[in-house]
Amino acid sequence: MRLLKEFVRDPGGIGTVLPSSKQLAIEMTSGIGLEKAETVVEVGPGSGVFTSKILKLIDAKTKFFVVELNPRIHKHLTEKYPNVTIYNESAENLPELIKKEKISSVDVVVSSLPWVSFPAELQTKLLDAIYKSMSKGGRFSTYGYIHGKIMPRGHSLKKLLKTRFHTVETSEMVWQNVPPAFVYKCRK
Ligand SMILES: C[S@@+](CC[C@H](N)C(=O)[O-])C[C@H]1O[C@@H](n2cnc3c(N)ncnc32)[C@H](O)[C@@H]1O
Repeated sequence: MRLLKEFVRDPGGIGTVLPSSKQLAIEMTSGIGLEKAETVVEVGPGSGVFTSKILKLIDAKTKFFVVELNPRIHKHLTEKYPNVTIYNESAENLPELIKKEKISSVDVVVSSLPWVSFPAELQTKLLDAIYKSMSKGGRFSTYGYIHGKIMPRGHSLKKLLKTRFHTVETSEMVWQNVPPAFVYKCRK
């Protein structure tokens, strides 16, 4: 209900009306080294489906923080995860936030940012901020919906990922998700 309400207020900023499925959460968080990472950041968590999964996978010593732009979603998340640091900021500010957290770079970034809702300039700004904040060899996972495969902004995201990251892998379609979605897993 919360995502639906926020989608009605700001469709472009939210990008979906339904939380991600368990199956998408598994695909987003597997094979990206969360279990061994020293530093992990989640950007655009929405309802927190991936946050819960990340918390189950990371070590107790891992430094983990979350960045959510929408103030109402942020408030809800701070109540749901009282022990997690959750910034009410844009992921564009990630380089400043890692300084604030007294770390030099992030090993794993998990992103639910609604890329196809964003104009090309914002896609570039956000991805550059994330890339700049990552450790060499760091991992980045993000997802797109099936319709994004034929949308120009979906193509521009793929191009951006390929021109920056060392490797970009695309998962099989997760058909159980509504709408069906696929995951990009990238290595810096
Ligand atoms: C597609 S929804 C996330 C859905 C999530 N996977 C779930 O299961 O609920 C996208 C989220 O990204 C957040 N967001 C959008 N732009 C952002 C930005 N620049 N920085 C951080 N969060 C942002 C939105 O407020 C929203 O919570």
